[in-house]
Amino acid sequence: MRHSRQLRDTPATEPLCQRYQSVRRHTEQLVAPLSPEDMVVQSMPDASPAKWHMAHTTWFFETFLLLPNLAGYQVFDPTFGYLFNSYYEAVGPRHPRPQRGLVTRPGVDQVRAYRRHVDEHMATLLMGPLSEDISSLIELGLAHEEQHQELLLMDILHLFSLSSLKPAYSADWPKDASGRRGQFKPLSGGLTQIGHSGPSFAFDHEGPRHTTYLQSFEISDRLVTNGEWLSFIADGGYHTAALWLSEGWTLIQEQGWNAPLYWQHDDNGWKRMTLRGLEDIDPAGPVTHISYYEAAAFATWADARLPTEAEWEAAARAGLLEQVDDVAWQWTQSAYSAYPGFKPSAGAVGEYNGKFMVNQMVLRGGASVTSPDHCRLTYRNFFQTDKRWMVAGVRLARDSRQPGVVNPHDSEFARDVIAGLSAEHKSLPPKYFYDATGSDLFEAICETAEYYPTRAETGLLKGIARDIAALIPKGAALVEFGSGASDKTCLVLDAAPHIAVYVPIDISAAALNKAAKSLRQKYPTLMVAPQVDDFTHVVTLPEEADGHTRVGFFPGSTIGNFTHDEAVAFLHAAHEVLGEQAHFIVGVDMVKDPKTLVAAYDDAEGVTARFNKNLLVRINRELGADFDIGAFRHEAVWNAEQARMQMHLVSQTEQVVNVAGQRFHFAAGERLHTENSHKFTVESFTELAAEAGWTVERHWLSDAPQMALFSLRA
Ligand code: AVI
Repeated sequence: MRHSRQLRDTPATEPLCQRYQSVRRHTEQLVAPLSPEDMVVQSMPDASPAKWHMAHTTWFFETFLLLPNLAGYQVFDPTFGYLFNSYYEAVGPRHPRPQRGLVTRPGVDQVRAYRRHVDEHMATLLMGPLSEDISSLIELGLAHEEQHQELLLMDILHLFSLSSLKPAYSADWPKDASGRRGQFKPLSGGLTQIGHSGPSFAFDHEGPRHTTYLQSFEISDRLVTNGEWLSFIADGGYHTAALWLSEGWTLIQEQGWNAPLYWQHDDNGWKRMTLRGLEDIDPAGPVTHISYYEAAAFATWADARLPTEAEWEAAARAGLLEQVDDVAWQWTQSAYSAYPGFKPSAGAVGEYNGKFMVNQMVLRGGASVTSPDHCRLTYRNFFQTDKRWMVAGVRLARDSRQPGVVNPHDSEFARDVIAGLSAEHKSLPPKYFYDATGSDLFEAICETAEYYPTRAETGLLKGIARDIAALIPKGAALVEFGSGASDKTCLVLDAAPHIAVYVPIDISAAALNKAAKSLRQKYPTLMVAPQVDDFTHVVTLPEEADGHTRVGFFPGSTIGNFTHDEAVAFLHAAHEVLGEQAHFIVGVDMVKDPKTLVAAYDDAEGVTARFNKNLLVRINRELGADFDIGAFRHEAVWNAEQARMQMHLVSQTEQVVNVAGQRFHFAAGERLHTENSHKFTVESFTELAAEAGWTVERHWLSDAPQMALFSLRA
């Protein structure tokens, strides 16, 4: 029933009679799952019974199209004008809105007969020549019916939410796509054009298209998630007056609101009512059914604001936004009012929008319940600030930072951490383990009884240094990736005094300088040419390496910390750096019994736990975060399917953490994935190397617990 849509500037260009039939048929399809009883009840004054929506949309065609334009047309029933007029003063008095649920007669069957009667006569009208005015009015009638299709679903959800049975309208009504939380995208300020122009259909209030000025701003590419809303709740969002507009604060006190509409809490946590019935909250799904007041309070809490409708439209037109019109309408901070030059249409349909331009806010986009083809970039939905039965969500915006004001959080580290914490499954890149303390802790890990890789690899290197030396040509340059203290290098340099140049590459200038100094003393004839660089990004080597055959050296099984794709990319890049006929010696940790592996990553002294948690200490220090280190537990697990050790930090309680000016919610027991350490077999590593164009020339295995060294040829 729901279709994925592409936000368009113009509506579909189907012939009008076909469009008439498909829109009318869609209403019938939407009511198909409902019983006659479902279709009569009115659950609150804002909502209308499904039967009333079916009749009112039909009344629109009868009143505004058939009566004035189809000669000899006889109304289906003269009492219907009173019953099914919604708000058109020009058409006459009407049945009170809050009492639509009391209209037991006509029954559903009569309303269906009314629809058939009007459809038959509309078919006649649609067959004849149609003036532009009549065609536009039919378009309006169809857009009007599509609005009521959405209202019908909103109203049914409200009705069913009040049933103790919490029935599903449709068990397979599509779920909102869940995923990562939003990231702010910048857009430069300046003059911009917003609003509808052109011959295609739009509601009158979408124009005139006009020029407006925007300050530079940033807007989130996705909607606020349920997980972020849980953080807001857990942080006392509904109990902190300072976050709320005064009217909103009063309202939530009066109504006792402490969560979005349709959320309910029991011993097992939060659930929410949907068209599929009652279900668990998906933390990565978009939050919906919130009022303007809640949206604005959340934005304040998140140190952001709601976008204006002009910002929203400019950003959508620039292609910056995801979840534009298929999830939830998005509150803007723009009051619903006339665009410059707006004039309501002539006649009764002039009452369609203009007379509501007070005390309402604009929502943009479209929702999961919006009918197919009903959305446009210029579409202006509007609701009062306390309403929340419509599918409304939040997209955040914020002012661009003033030029010259340095943002301490605008670094690669901050961006990576925020992206990792924003993901559906929270993670952090392991490369950030290695600040000064992290590097010291890693050295200490290598000393623990349980962490075998360093000892095993060093022992192996000692035994095979001569073999390796024999493979290295005279006068070669040895290029080490991520050299650190260059400890293992000496074993190669001692066995191969014919190496002319040594190029250690490391991100830490301090470590490099220290190592270079001691190597120069120890090997006076060796040219040591250190390069401070992220070794995964290296493209050129220092000129000292020019003219020398290059041999790569990458011990320590650091390749195991990469994802498969990163490992392939790195091996490709190493080929580029090392040149034609490249030769590369790579250290790799082997698959072995899980007990040995888990112990190596969870030593009894707790050094690895400190190493893992130090990442949070670093984030606290460098990104102004407030991780409570004690509230996370170190965890090391063997993932047999992926052949890797995984390190996590497990949140011990439900908590909210502030990082780089953003808030992140952790459920009790939620894992923050901090490292993968892939283990290989000779076959699996040979396959990986082959994917990047390398052939295994030779390999050596240490005694158990096994490490391996591979000699690769390009
Ligand atoms: C650097 N790297 C190869 C180490 C490993 O074994 O994956 C990092 C480490 N993590 C926990 N202990 C050691």
